[in-house]
Amino acid sequence: MDEKLIKVKELLKKYNQEHLLTFFDDLNPENKELLLNQVLDIDFELMLKLYENTKKTVEIDTDSIEPIPYLDKSKLSQDELDLYYEKGLEAIKSGKLAVVTMAGGQGTRLGHNGPKGTYDLGLPSHKSIFEILCDTLILAKNTYGVTIPWYLMTSNENNLATINFFEEHNYFGYPKEAVHFFKQGELPMIGTDGKILLNENGLVKLAANGHGGIFESMFKNNVLKDMKTNGIEWVFIGGVDNVLVKMVDPILMGLCINNNTLAGGKSVVKVGPKEKVGVFCKRNQKPSVVEYTEITEEMANLTDENGELLFGESHILCNLFNIRALEAISNNSLPYHSAFKKATYMNDKKEQVSSDVPNAYKFEAFIFDAFSTLDNMSILRVNRVDEFAPVKNATGVDSPETARELYTNYYKNNF
Ligand code: UD1
Repeated sequence: MDEKLIKVKELLKKYNQEHLLTFFDDLNPENKELLLNQVLDIDFELMLKLYENTKKTVEIDTDSIEPIPYLDKSKLSQDELDLYYEKGLEAIKSGKLAVVTMAGGQGTRLGHNGPKGTYDLGLPSHKSIFEILCDTLILAKNTYGVTIPWYLMTSNENNLATINFFEEHNYFGYPKEAVHFFKQGELPMIGTDGKILLNENGLVKLAANGHGGIFESMFKNNVLKDMKTNGIEWVFIGGVDNVLVKMVDPILMGLCINNNTLAGGKSVVKVGPKEKVGVFCKRNQKPSVVEYTEITEEMANLTDENGELLFGESHILCNLFNIRALEAISNNSLPYHSAFKKATYMNDKKEQVSSDVPNAYKFEAFIFDAFSTLDNMSILRVNRVDEFAPVKNATGVDSPETARELYTNYYKNNF
């Protein structure tokens, strides 16, 4: 321990972060050890760079951004649909597909206390979002005769609660051995002065590092290795908060196989310039997404000769990757975006600090920043009412009420 402590002190001095030991003497031996390991795990150079970046404004003007080519599913001929369907079906039936649900986020915006997937959507059945997603896997199992492995990316914060929920609900009737959990990574939060924050236990205040951390986590947790060993070639990665997500879709898969692209993504038509969705585009000739927090008003309002939004292919977090693409991506690190948030932390006078306004930075990588490592992607425009029912806010747009209605109508009209 002494040697470790000396090393930690040197490191903290070098990076002017000595306050991280404010509570060291008060901690029990276990937490002392934990704190030292937390400090040794911090990439201080990265944190410095991230802090410097918070002072810069996001510049997308220098990138060359253009609309991305896509296929509109509703305009495909029956022959084309059949071709993609058959190709995708063959791969699914031969056990080449795995699905991943990114469930690291908490239901904060929703006002739900707990993992977002545990939220009861308010249907007569009182199914949680997790059960609604699982239903589609059970349907696929019955239709295609394969048990598709389901991986759930959780966060440190909600991993145990998520696993317990699955246990309590007997994995919603899906084979337990086909369900796997892995945790996403974390990064320290920093104050406006660049100091790394301490939490109420006197330990480093860590926050989930965004869903872009999925590639690194899949690699570190041997998820990719496990998938490869089991003959998986395609991996669908989706968010937890869309109750109409089609995790098993032969058409998207067949399209990627037929077009020889290592990834595919689904889009729906953006309802208007202000909708809070990212949009697919080509950035410096590579597939990309311009996030709603970064798009300029001018770009959001551009229209084509038919009066449709020029950047109107909404990214709905429904993406399919070939395992080779995942391996390549996990070898590169993605950029981090900073978010200015309200945080409660302990200062170096051992006082608790909280605020009604944002006071600290959190850093997140976005899954779609990985698209630029691919030369091409197959984008399939699908019908919004069939595939996109997001549950984001407690009331109003993208709320349980709107998602419930979309979900109910879909199952009324299609089954
Ligand atoms: C997201 C997309 C946006 C897209 C919209 C469609 C991002 C940054 N933006 O916006 O392009 O148009 O959905 O609905 O994703 N998650 C984790 N770990 C994290 C953070 C998030 O697993 O650290 C998961 C959440 O559980 C959720 C999904 O990622 O399933 C989306 O995250 P969220 O931050 O809510 O994104 P949105 O702002 O809704």
